[in-house]
Amino acid sequence: MPTAAELRRTAKLHYRRAGLWTKARRGDLVSQLMLHERLADPYPLYERMRERGPVYRSRTGMYAITSHELCTRVLRDPAFARRNEEPQRLTPPGDQGPTADSSFLQEEVSDHMRWRRLVAPAFRPRKIGEYRRRTEEVAHRLLDAALAKGEFDLVNDYASPLPITVISELLGLSDIDVEQFAHYGFVTGKAIDGIRSTRQAVEFRTAVRELDALFAALVRRRRAEPGDDLVSELLRPQGGQELPEREIVGTCQLLLTAGFETTTNLVSNAVLRLKEHPAQWDKLVSDPELAPAAAEESLRYDPPVQYSIRAAREDFEAGGEKLPSGTILMLVLGAANRDHEVFDDPHRFDLTRPDAGSHLAFLSGAHYCVGAPLARMEADVALRVLAERVPGLRLTGDPGRRPTAALRGLLHLPVGA
Ligand code: HEM
Repeated sequence: MPTAAELRRTAKLHYRRAGLWTKARRGDLVSQLMLHERLADPYPLYERMRERGPVYRSRTGMYAITSHELCTRVLRDPAFARRNEEPQRLTPPGDQGPTADSSFLQEEVSDHMRWRRLVAPAFRPRKIGEYRRRTEEVAHRLLDAALAKGEFDLVNDYASPLPITVISELLGLSDIDVEQFAHYGFVTGKAIDGIRSTRQAVEFRTAVRELDALFAALVRRRRAEPGDDLVSELLRPQGGQELPEREIVGTCQLLLTAGFETTTNLVSNAVLRLKEHPAQWDKLVSDPELAPAAAEESLRYDPPVQYSIRAAREDFEAGGEKLPSGTILMLVLGAANRDHEVFDDPHRFDLTRPDAGSHLAFLSGAHYCVGAPLARMEADVALRVLAERVPGLRLTGDPGRRPTAALRGLLHLPVGA
């Protein structure tokens, strides 16, 4: 049963959603984006925002930034906080993410830096080299099984189980239920857009609780029997002090939820774009060494995380507007990645684009994605193995989209060899 507080919160969210509909009907572009109406292709919507200048003032109270230069400036400036300090006033419909209380995304800067230093060794080049061998094995095994079916679902048979297996092993989880984990990813990813029903609230709370229990048990196991995994590493006393279990469990949850849904979306978005641009797919097939370039251009052209929210701690000026402290900014990464000022012919999907890597798909500044080297390696392997083994890959049905605005990806992509 939902608690009274949850019901109140859900009622408020319904009310807010109804407000979004009204604003969307009156032409508010951010409301239209949040209502999922344009998910198949949000890019024309971003262009309409851009036509109004680099800072689009939305009736939701938020300011959407479409300029690459301005997004970068905000992301690198400590005067803009990730954490919402006044949740009632500042929390927009999209900022109640899965990365709950004990994760370092919520911590203030000094703790945040400490946490980044702690998890960084798991993503160093030597480690990524080790994960790469395992990722290749898993990719081949998944493809063997998928190809044996004839037609298969690129998302559920390949792009989703691949990063789920890799991140679980990195954390020290073995024999996981891949489908159950895909469900956790779906539930927590959807919550980033806001909880919109009591049912969703319960589903989300259940997923977080189950993950908590799973990681608490893992921490106990690793305390008794350390292994060569990140949890065992985090359990080692740091400067003579042990980390509280709550923080370790929070970190595991964050890495798990941040670490596979996004990568699944990167691989599926990339394959869809490559197949929509057959000449680009042919290029990859004739030279699989282009796989990292294909991943990079896909991160630019169709990023798995479409926006990130920041709150101004001080008054500031942007795009000719004076904005007060407390202003909420929606940094539209999907728009910044197609900024005409930075990218030549930005709506062209082109594997040979020399500056694709200037995208903001992994952000910039203090919160730059810690998992970026892992995500890049996994996408490289996934695309390379696919191009080498299934050069004649074809779409056999319509893709199904995830019903989310912040995270952009596919639920299904029917393909055949
Ligand atoms: C294509 C795949 C990925 C994309 C597009 C992506 C994107 C992002 C973005 C945009 C952020 C910043 C969020 C914000 O501040 O609003 C972020 C942060 C983060 N990501 Fe990723 N990510 C990906 C893969 C991964 C992987 C594989 C992991 C770990 C296994 C990971 C772990 C994290 C963590 C821990 C943070 C928080 C960093 C901080 O706050 O300092 N991500 N990611």
